[in-house]
Amino acid sequence: MPERIDRNLSLELVRVTEAAAMAAARLMGRGDKNAADHAAVEAMRIALSSMNMDGTVVIGEGEKDEAPMLFIGEKIGTGQPPKVDIAVDPVDGTRLLSLGLPNAISVVALAEQGTLYDSPGVFYMNKIAVGPDAKGSIDIDRSVAWNLRSIAKAKKMDVSEVTVVILDRPRHEHLIREVREAGGRIKLITDGDIAGAMMTALEDTGVDVLMGIGGAPEAVVSACALKCIGGDMQCRLHPRNEEERQKAIKMGANLDELFDIDKLAKGSNVFVSLTGITNGELVEGVKYHEKYVETHSLVMRSKSGTVREIHARHSIDKLMKYSEIPFLTKEGEGRSE
Ligand code: FBP
Repeated sequence: MPERIDRNLSLELVRVTEAAAMAAARLMGRGDKNAADHAAVEAMRIALSSMNMDGTVVIGEGEKDEAPMLFIGEKIGTGQPPKVDIAVDPVDGTRLLSLGLPNAISVVALAEQGTLYDSPGVFYMNKIAVGPDAKGSIDIDRSVAWNLRSIAKAKKMDVSEVTVVILDRPRHEHLIREVREAGGRIKLITDGDIAGAMMTALEDTGVDVLMGIGGAPEAVVSACALKCIGGDMQCRLHPRNEEERQKAIKMGANLDELFDIDKLAKGSNVFVSLTGITNGELVEGVKYHEKYVETHSLVMRSKSGTVREIHARHSIDKLMKYSEIPFLTKEGEGRSE
């Protein structure tokens, strides 16, 4: 029996990431990561609170005592069904934003309650991610050279054309060397591996695979997005030190466990919205005009596989008359003359 069309929460979530992006973009390039993140968090929390849902933040700004807003375990929404898990990253790429560099995004993922992976106090995961054309061609336990050959074969290209996106970190020196020795191309990013993972799945980004160690919460959000767009991902927890390793083991983690998209995001109805803060390969950033502010977002849903590009114009003057969200940092600041 065909189902009646049901609620697509990502169409509501887009207002949340738009609000966070607009609130944070005012602070682009100011060199203050915390202020920009705080503005995004505040806007996101206000926007999420009006959504009809019984939500719990499972990936957020940290534990309750260190994060006053959007902390892990915080209840969000009006309390009406559906019961959902929420993963928020008000700014992925706080440093990018504070320096005015490309690819800072605001992103939220939402899924049925109890379906998003909650990493046991381990900050990093080792990741490999590809888009739909290379699904089934990756194996995190095999060598970089093997993976590049396999991806090249799946995408009907030469290894010398395969582009690997990698976070530019000293911990990746060896990985970078291995990619070069295998003949692959490299795109180093200073931050933002959610955008990096998504670039592998979207056309015209010129990126084929993400490799390397990045945040565990970012792995879950990336898995949600790849579940919607299509693609493949394999990850493993990567403790920073012996203390983190022991803590994770005590909390019942199996450090050898392999996580794929369906383990990181178990649900069948996953929603993701992201809005560009600074310009990037996925979406354009927030742009200011005399009478309005422009945003670009991608919203997606795993059940239908629909990915929408939403280009919005916001009248800040009108919004400021009734919205609780402080879109202007100080009285009139940032408004075009
Ligand atoms: P923040 O914006 O929260 O700082 O995260 C940026 C980021 O680059 C993530 O995209 C990535 O997963 C993580 O940091 C990598 O961590 P580290 O900077 O410690 O290498």
